[in-house]
Amino acid sequence: MQENSTVAVPPRGLYAVDSGPARIRIHHLTELKHKRQRITAVTCYDATFARLVDSAAIDVVLVGDSLGNVIQGQETTLQVTVDHIVYHCAAVARGLQRAHLVADMPFMSYRNVDVALQNAGRMLAQGHAHAVKLEGGLEVVPIVEALVAAGIPVMGHIGLTPQSVHALGGNRVQGRGDRQRKRLLQSAQALQAAGCYALVVEAIPAALAQELSAALTIATIGIGAGAGCDGQILVLYDMLGLNPQFKPKFVKHFAQIGEAIVAALGHYKAEVQAGEFPAPEHTYNDPTPVAAVKRQAHG
Ligand code: KIV
Repeated sequence: MQENSTVAVPPRGLYAVDSGPARIRIHHLTELKHKRQRITAVTCYDATFARLVDSAAIDVVLVGDSLGNVIQGQETTLQVTVDHIVYHCAAVARGLQRAHLVADMPFMSYRNVDVALQNAGRMLAQGHAHAVKLEGGLEVVPIVEALVAAGIPVMGHIGLTPQSVHALGGNRVQGRGDRQRKRLLQSAQALQAAGCYALVVEAIPAALAQELSAALTIATIGIGAGAGCDGQILVLYDMLGLNPQFKPKFVKHFAQIGEAIVAALGHYKAEVQAGEFPAPEHTYNDPTPVAAVKRQAHG
């Protein structure tokens, strides 16, 4: 590569704000809950977005199996594998300095204790995650206990659990009615007792999420569960409006990045076709001969 063509590496912390601890750890989430400071979380799948997320001082980053939907274009998360999560998690880890990094355990990757230990171990050792997340209630308690005993922090996930989409008869709101409400409260308590350090609660009525959050000492992180949770999580691509057509009730588009990308690509196409891009300032010339540089330096 020519001397005058150094590749620009974006500085870290470009947009950094005063962000508290140097690295968010599992105990910080409980502290934030008890200080009544809401926890912020998003999903992320690559290093470039991870740098931006960290610059915004988001507390928790989840490499979610939602990557099946937003990265792979699948209809469900069931096709996502441990290799996929490890690959994306390692990329995200390279972009993060501050956020707490959680790797999602994909469908069937925690079907028994041995399989769960092996796969969760890979998330931490190869994916550089700080914790794993897994879906389920009372039925996953033995798995959580085994992982926690092995020194692997576990975030639970109850309510709508997308890996059970077919068993649930579709992605629908959970916890409606007394029987489901009781079952969710019981699951949450059991997961906390098993050692989970936080719980994602997805697509449940706001009143139930609030009740759960008040009943637990660990933090709840809600998605489609109202404002009564200790924190909120959204799929990054959803909240950035990367897919403008996808706007379920629980999602807010905090930006219109999808539209901005299409507009930028349109400008690029127009300038290329008009012969306006690349302009002279985007074009490499022969390097200035060393002798000429020396002459300039010595007048
Ligand atoms: O996979 C994912 O993105 C998730 C969040 C929606 C919580 O599990």
